[in-house]
Order: sequence, then structure tokens, then C-alpha cells
Amino acid sequence: MAILITGISELVTCDDTLEGADQSDGLGILRDAAVVVGAEFEDAPTSVQWVGAAADAPAADWSFDLGGQAVLPGFVDSHSHLVYAGDRSAEFAARMTGQPYDGGGIAVTMAATREASDAELRALITARVDEMRSQGTTTVEIKSGYGLDVEQEARALRLAREVTEETTFLGGHVVPPEARDDRAAYVDLVAGEMLAAAAPHAKWVDVFCEPNSPHAFTGEEARTILLAGRAAGLGLRVHGNQLGPGPGVQLAVELGAASVDHCTFLSDDDIAALSGSDTVATLLPGVEFSTRSPYPDGRALIDAGVNIAIATDCNPGTCNSSSMPLMIALAVREMGMTPAEALRAATVTAARSLRRTDIGSVRVGNRADLAVVGAPSYLHIPYRVGVPIVKTLQV
Ligand code: NIG
Ligand code: FE
Repeated sequence: MAILITGISELVTCDDTLEGADQSDGLGILRDAAVVVGAEFEDAPTSVQWVGAAADAPAADWSFDLGGQAVLPGFVDSHSHLVYAGDRSAEFAARMTGQPYDGGGIAVTMAATREASDAELRALITARVDEMRSQGTTTVEIKSGYGLDVEQEARALRLAREVTEETTFLGGHVVPPEARDDRAAYVDLVAGEMLAAAAPHAKWVDVFCEPNSPHAFTGEEARTILLAGRAAGLGLRVHGNQLGPGPGVQLAVELGAASVDHCTFLSDDDIAALSGSDTVATLLPGVEFSTRSPYPDGRALIDAGVNIAIATDCNPGTCNSSSMPLMIALAVREMGMTPAEALRAATVTAARSLRRTDIGSVRVGNRADLAVVGAPSYLHIPYRVGVPIVKTLQV
């Protein structure tokens, strides 16, 4: 079964090797384009079968005409914390009048999440993923981190796995209140029994490496957890340099992490380490927005040759937005990135941060994960900020 999609005013492939495409911004743009998608056999995932000029399009079993809209790879939201219950809107309101963020609210969400039944959590996760999909996101990474004991962390990942293969064990989010008298014992638990229970449901391990928070982990504690995760077969991700300068970025690069996320406070040495590495710097501008923090300098990172992704970090504390279009707008308005750089960061480089090449670009053989913009060009995403013009293309 093959479906031909026509009426594409601008096809943003994010394939910088596509010949005949406009590569001036590295987006591989085809104008007046068409795409054929289909499944090789019943129950196979739908993939891209053909990409090119509408005039050259092959015949297909079905076709539909988008009437002159832009099409792009579905967004890859490579950092989220969707497994939670409860509400911290009052904490957001307090921050807007000057209360600083230090990670202490995570324990509030932990208590509410532990109380919730599987069915309640499943309904919350599903609604949040649906909300993302309705705004053009087709892949989402989901972390645990609000269970913070053996059973609850394994449960969070089991439920997350029902909606995505990109699941991340974050038992090292904060030290839970009951463990505060013995941090070392909690680190051992995370790196031992908790990891063993979580690993079957996880692809990644992450840690909130943040000596500037009394609740989070030092560089050495983070190293212990990450090395244990790697020995258990998980890939590495790090929350680093969020609240102030710290060891997170250097640790992530040293250990070959796929991504270090936040990167709000970076030294020149941090930037130099990132630029020569395979570690993607994932920027989360919704966090700076929602915590009234300074934005990282995306321009400086790109100019230094660092690979940048952007993601929502959708979570109840530091950013409760699921909108990748908003993150693109913030990257452009606040972090010195061009719309093209922000779009690559939200798609193909975010995929790279998950070590994936089958998503994040529209190329033959890749998954048919497409988004459509209710406008003639992708430039309208940051231009029409706040207007819900991006949708996942249902094929
Ligand atoms: O990515 N920094 C640590 N974790 C989350 C916030 C979690 C929360 O406050 O509930 C983040 O910002
Ligand atoms: Fe996070």
C-alpha cells in the first residue's frame, strides 16, 4: 500500500545530502514537492518510499493533496518527564515573582506520583503524548525520576515503554526525603538494585548532576550512577550545568554520553569539550522561560561547532509546555539561532542525540513521521508564535 502526498509547497527534508534540494541552510528543501509513504507488508511500520518534485511523482494506491502547505520531519522531543501526577502551578507562579528554582519541588511530585495508580498514570501519560502529537511531535523520550524507589522507578519505565522505546532511567534525579541522612546509600541503591529493576524497561540512564542544588548529585555521585548504567547496557544522558557552572558537561563528554541537557551555564572549556565530541548539547529554552533564567548562547555553541538539539523538557516543575514550535520560537528569539538552525535542532540533531538516523529527516527508508505546517513555509513556525499551525500528518 503506497500513499502519494502532493500539494507540498515546501518539503523540508533535513537531509543535507539530498541532491537537487536547496541546501543553502542545510535543510534540504524541495519546492512543489511530493512524498510517497507506505508499508512493505501488513503491520510493517510506514516508511518513506519516494521523495521528489511533484511533477515527477510516481503512481500510488491512494493520494491526497495538501493544497500548498509545508511538510517537515515530525519533531523529535528528546527530553521529557511525562510520568507524573500532581500539580505545581503555584510553584511556577511563585517563581514569576522572584522565587528561585532549586529542585526541591521534585519531592512534591514524587509524593503525588507514588500515590497514583497504574491506570491513573497511564491516562496522564497518554493524554500528554497525544498533546505532543497534536503539535507535530512524532518521537518522544520519557524519563522516570518521580518514583525514586526500586518499585516505583521500574513502574514508571514500564508505563513509559507502553508509549515509546526512548525510555530513560532517572533514579538519580534527586535524593528522596527518606534517604537524606545517607546520600551514599541512596547512590548505591540507584546504581545497584534500582538500576537492575529499571534496566529491562530502559534504553538510557540519566542523572541530575548539579552541585548547585542541595537535592541533586555531585560529579562523583553522577559518575558512579552513569558507569553502573553503562555496565548494565544503557546509553548515557546527563542533566548538566542547569543552575550554575558545574562538572556535568565535562563528565558527559568524558564518558561519551549521547547528550548533555540544559547547558545553561557553560565555561569556554565546556564549549571546547563539546565541540570536539559526539555528545549533543540539548538546550531546553522552555526551562529558562519558566524559571526566569538566562538563556544559553546557542549562537556561540553553533559557531564553535557543537551539535545542538532543542527539546521541551516537559515536566511539572521547570517547564510544563509540550510545544516544540514554542521551543523553536524561543531558540530563534532568545538564543541567537536562525529558524533553520532551530528546525534542525528540533528534528535531525535531536534524533542524533537519541543515536537514531531513521527519524528526524525525510529520506527514503526512514520512518514516515511527518508534520505539516498550515502555512507555505517552515519560517511561519517561529513567525506565528503561539498559533497552533503545526500538526502531525496522519497517514
Ligand atoms: O529537567 N533538573 C531536573 N529535572 C527537571 C525538573 C524536574 C522538576 O522540577 O520536577 C528538569 O528541569
Ligand atoms: Fe529534565
